Amino acid sequence: MPRTKIAGIGFYVPEQVVTNHDLMRHMETTDEWIQERSGIVERRYAKRHEETTSSLGAKAARIAIERAGITPADVDFIIFATLSPDYFFPGCGVLLQRELGITHTEIGALDIRNQCSGFVYGLTVADQFVRSGMYKNILLVGAEVHSMGLDYSTRGRNVTVLFGDGAGAVILQPTDDANQGILTSKLHSDGTHAEQLALINPGAHSGYHDHNTDFGYDESLEFGGLFLTEKMVEDGMAFPVMDGQLVFKTAVTKFPEVIKEVLDDQGFTPADIDLFIPHQANLRISQFVQKKLGLPDEKVWNNIQRFGNTTAATIPIALCEAWEAGKVKKGDLICIAAFGSGFTWGASLIRW
Ligand code: COA
Repeated sequence: MPRTKIAGIGFYVPEQVVTNHDLMRHMETTDEWIQERSGIVERRYAKRHEETTSSLGAKAARIAIERAGITPADVDFIIFATLSPDYFFPGCGVLLQRELGITHTEIGALDIRNQCSGFVYGLTVADQFVRSGMYKNILLVGAEVHSMGLDYSTRGRNVTVLFGDGAGAVILQPTDDANQGILTSKLHSDGTHAEQLALINPGAHSGYHDHNTDFGYDESLEFGGLFLTEKMVEDGMAFPVMDGQLVFKTAVTKFPEVIKEVLDDQGFTPADIDLFIPHQANLRISQFVQKKLGLPDEKVWNNIQRFGNTTAATIPIALCEAWEAGKVKKGDLICIAAFGSGFTWGASLIRW
């Protein structure tokens, strides 16, 4: 059975830089608070009405496709991971297909809704398809446009300051080289705290039926079901919610656990890792995990300082930056790991 290799990689971040000082004009926060708690100095925001999640994804995808030495028409499966899709439905996978000009239909498109662990989940799914021989050129994209859905008042400051926009993409292909490719992946989930890091509305949970029908309309409900009411927007119910301390505490436990799991699976120790790419949730979380693994600074790639948390896009963006900087060489052992909303988490080991 072949292994799955990363044959091409690319990333794209919007041009517009938004600093902590820019955010201070809209909410009560400080550059010191943001840097001290998260490490973030600035992030990128997409251009309104011009850039969308699928268009950022397409820019990253074109670079990955070119670097893999193929054309968009060669892609036989698309996996798109995002929590900030262009539309409620259809998903970004088909929009990306269209944007890339892939007009043939000998292709599938799958959307993944696993938030911060979306790329690791997507990579693991793609790995199974490639190893089974079902697909030969999978395009996996992680992309987010958070900036269009954040609360820029002081009410939303604990969440808003952390997030940025961006996209990363990889092309996954089979390889017969036993010393190359994805060696193992482990995925986990625990729905106990699903609402502690979430965007609850709009959603079917609020159970609205139009009052002109008798399908269960309840006058006492002020909620909007699959759409937002004005009141929900006023009350801040249209924005993400996060129990930051719970997320922090759980993340610093689960990251080391799942990394140990993939290392043990392959008979490695942390010392065997050449480069560790943690999901960029918070520099403090990444530093905690780095210390726990005993890795020196040169073996860890962090870019949250410049891009904030771009959720499903952080790992491919960081991996691509590291690769472009010459930090990823043939034969290197790369460890990627993510934790986020769900909670869902996972890790992969890749021999470059
Ligand atoms: N600027 C200034 N003050 C802020 C603020 C901001 N942007 N956001 C929150 N605060 C205030 C709070 O209102 C609170 O004030 P109070 O003490 O007067 O009530 C105080 O800072 C402490 O808030 P708290 O939420 O306890 O801070 P914290 O030390 O837990 O840090 C996070 C907050 C979000 C940085 C931190 O919890 C974290 O990073 N968690 C993980 C989040 C994460 O990774 N999310 C992505 C998912 S993968």
